[in-house]
Formats: sequence, C-alpha cells, structure tokens
Amino acid sequence: MFKRKIQMGGTILKTARCPEFQTPEGRQLAYDNIRRHEIDALVVIGGDGSLTGARIFAKEFNFPIIGLPGTIDNDLYGTDSTIGYDTALNTIMECVDKIRDTATSHERLFFIEVMGRDAGFLALNGAIASGAEAAIIPEISTQVDQLAELIQNGFRKSKNSSIVLVAESPVTGGAMGMAERVKNEYPGYDVRVSILGHLQRGGSPTAYDRILASRMGAAAIDALLDDQRNVMIGIQNDTIVYVPFTKAIKNDKPINQGLLDTLRRLSI
Ligand code: F6P
Repeated sequence: MFKRKIQMGGTILKTARCPEFQTPEGRQLAYDNIRRHEIDALVVIGGDGSLTGARIFAKEFNFPIIGLPGTIDNDLYGTDSTIGYDTALNTIMECVDKIRDTATSHERLFFIEVMGRDAGFLALNGAIASGAEAAIIPEISTQVDQLAELIQNGFRKSKNSSIVLVAESPVTGGAMGMAERVKNEYPGYDVRVSILGHLQRGGSPTAYDRILASRMGAAAIDALLDDQRNVMIGIQNDTIVYVPFTKAIKNDKPINQGLLDTLRRLSI
C-alpha cells in the first residue's frame, strides 16, 4: 500500500555516494538495470556530485533526466534554496539555543561546528538565526585577531559569553582548529567546542522543505512530460525555474554580502 513519506528525512531508495558510478563500467551497469526495470526517465535528487553524475549519464546514454537540488549545504547555483537546507538550518538554530544556556551560565566562548564542506550558507544563516556573534565560512578568510577583537568588544559591552559558528570546511580548519588558535593567543577565554555533525542531516523536514520538495517534484514531472532534459529545477523569487545542469554545477553560488553585514551589525 502507498505510504506517505513526506514526514521522513534521508533517502528511501538508499541511493548515496557510489564510487562505482564514477567508472564507465558502473554507469553501464546502472543503464542495464534501468532498462531491465523498464524505467523511461529519472529524477535525480542531490547536490553537486549527484547532478554531475546525472549529467554524464544523460549524455552517455541519451537518457532523459531532470535534477532536483537536494543538499543541506544550499550551494547549488540557480536556486535560492535547496531541499533540506531549511530543515538543517532549523536544527542548527535549536542546538545553538540549547548550547547558549551553558555559554551564558558559565561565561564561555563556544565554537560550534556546522556542516558545509565548501559553502558557508549554513554557518552564516545559522549564526543570524541563533543570535551568534560570528560565522567563520570558507568564502571569507578570517584572521584570528579580527575574530578576537569582535569577541573582546562583545565581552567589554557586558556580554558574558560568545558563540561562533564555524563551517566544517578544511579552509576554515573547523571548530577545533579555530578554538586551538584562539586558546593559544588569548588564554583568558574559557573556550569550548561543540560539533553538531550528522544531527544536521536527519529528522522530519520543516513545512518549508516539504512544500519546496513537493513543488519541485511536480515541476520535474511536468518538465519530463514537456520533453525537457538535462535541467535542474530551481526556485527563484518563489517561482519555479529550469536551470541547465552545466550552469548549476559549474557556477559557484555567491554568499549574500548583505547577510554578512547583517551578522556584523547584530553582533555588536
Ligand atoms: O555535501 C553535504 C554534506 O552534508 C557537507 O556539508 C558535509 O561536509 C558532508 O556532506 C558530510 O559528508 P559525510 O556524511 O560523508 O561525512
């Protein structure tokens, strides 16, 4: 019997990073399986990696594929939001709210690591949503002394604690790396680290994500019936758009400078 899945996170098909698919033999096997099961088209939901695989597969086998942007990182060009991002952001906000209780009670400086291997959307918007003092993101280089100045100003202005969100990217060095550097240079602070990890990748989706996924799913079917191919469904200004795979994959989605300014102004 058909069972509703709208309230579930994760993937019910169990599709995940598949090294075999990166080889021509692996893709041939995928094509043979698709043929055997009489599948005429695919809707591929995923981030950069999934859409890159989809693009190569569609080209090699001249097979109709439509992409849906599904990643908590929100780092796909051509769409204002990706499926899963809002849910992860809300999880981050709830976790930081809880950590703040210890930060204020014990007058501590917390570095909280959030996901975002190559992109700072979760860290930046998570910081604004949770009232954190700063976000360290791979797109912007952050010097320890700049960060320390900001934190010191905060403490001087009678804030007795600080929270900094750090994207887990190797560029930022993660929360551990950042905390070590600050501890070494400013031993006066009582520094703690919290890594949110895979908490951010699960759970029941928010209403926003459910509606977004439903709209995008319906648009993917319309696109296939319309004979469209090799496009990712996106959303821009609340309107469904069709973004060629090449554009969505090759272009970097820029961080909104206005959000960085907002965070700076709010943290003073
Ligand atoms: O690409 C999505 C993402 O959630 C990144 O933000 C994160 O860095 C990475 O996946 C974690 O991957 P894994 O679960 O394989 O450790």
